[in-house]
Amino acid sequence: MKFPEKFTWGVATASYQIEGGWNCDGRGPTVWDDYCHYRSERIFDRHTGDAAVDFYHRYAQDLKMMKELGIPALRFSVAWSRVMPEGRGAVNEKGMDFYRNLIDAALENGIEPFMTLFHWDLPAALDDRGAWLNPDISDWFADYAAKVGQALGDRVEHIMTFNEPQCFLGDGYFNDVDAPGIKRSRRDLLRMAHNTLLAHGKAVMAIRSVAPKALIGVAPTSGVALPVTEKDVDAARRAYFELPEDGTPLWTPSWWSDPAILGRYPDDAWKMGADMPAIGQNDLKIICQKLDFYGQNIYNGYPVVKDGDGWKRIPRKPGYPRSACNWPLTPEALYWGPKFLYERYHLPIYITENGISCHDAVLLDGKVHDPNRIDTLERYIHEFGRAILDGVDGRGYFVWTLMDDFEWRTGYSDRFGLVHVDFETQKRLPKDSAYWYGKIARENGAGIYD
Ligand code: NOJ
Repeated sequence: MKFPEKFTWGVATASYQIEGGWNCDGRGPTVWDDYCHYRSERIFDRHTGDAAVDFYHRYAQDLKMMKELGIPALRFSVAWSRVMPEGRGAVNEKGMDFYRNLIDAALENGIEPFMTLFHWDLPAALDDRGAWLNPDISDWFADYAAKVGQALGDRVEHIMTFNEPQCFLGDGYFNDVDAPGIKRSRRDLLRMAHNTLLAHGKAVMAIRSVAPKALIGVAPTSGVALPVTEKDVDAARRAYFELPEDGTPLWTPSWWSDPAILGRYPDDAWKMGADMPAIGQNDLKIICQKLDFYGQNIYNGYPVVKDGDGWKRIPRKPGYPRSACNWPLTPEALYWGPKFLYERYHLPIYITENGISCHDAVLLDGKVHDPNRIDTLERYIHEFGRAILDGVDGRGYFVWTLMDDFEWRTGYSDRFGLVHVDFETQKRLPKDSAYWYGKIARENGAGIYD
């Protein structure tokens, strides 16, 4: 299959999931440290990210491994509390040095760094101050963004503000399944989301002022509405962007991206009734900053059909394919997702995460054969390629993830990596998929079926 000439082939990672070194060199605690330490019963087998896969000490070898495999881009995130232990105030230069060295090592290995400012590990000191409910958080985040931009903006081109805001807010403060594990009202949740949007807008401005050459984006997530037949396309488009009457609107892409990209809340925001947050006079101007690209983490979708003038979700077919963590496998999500998003937002798109957990193990021949991962990734990448051929401005694709890591509440039990990790010895062993993906990248996707 043919992909655009400068298409980026990468892998995505996140600080808390790989770094370890949780109390090294002045790093401050985060909500995830506290959650793992004090509410350990909520995590599979009471695992923690204390050591994770020790990327903090092993990044140089890991980047060398990436180079040998032929993987040319790394998405990583900065741990706010490593560079600002309290989340505010003075910079911890040792923490910043880690990211300087990491980026330099990536560049030396010919690997392009893509940096995310926030991938869920909120400094515990800010949680103590009310976290996302405190209106000051947008200024704290902007200050953090400015400091990171100042220190690293000369060596990293692509910067994203937030990763999956729907999850760290929705799962952390509403569904009560992730750190910090607090159940709040929808009203509070929407106020937090509004503060997060303000933090995004202010951070974009802050980075632009200190690193004018940076290309800035964001990496939210969505489950994609999938039309069952051609006549269901309009219904699916509506299903994808329309807000639900009940529950949280956070997983609907329009909740974040309409304000951030179009400068207004979705037309049907009235459905939130009295839970709608107060919107200050300049808020939407602050939130809606020009973005250079739009990231989207996409793993799957759900079938939708036309239903009279409206739409409805229908059950999946019996026996539908699933990953090891039971997520449905729906490659078409990488066709319809980018297509619907591009039609609405008109920004260059990166798939900032996509991947699959498998029951990987080192087999008797000493290797990890993961044909299911290879097959799944190929199908998904094919669909993204098809969207690009149909006119979507797709710029790059990142597999989640480089190596097996701490998968949040399921600890080390879900393996999403292209590289197998023995969590006791920290030994890395590339799976078949790692070699396969390296070859796909080297040939710019030519190996993907047409
Ligand atoms: C989304 C998140 O950004 C990442 O942290 C997580 O590990 C993967 N999806 C897989 O669940």
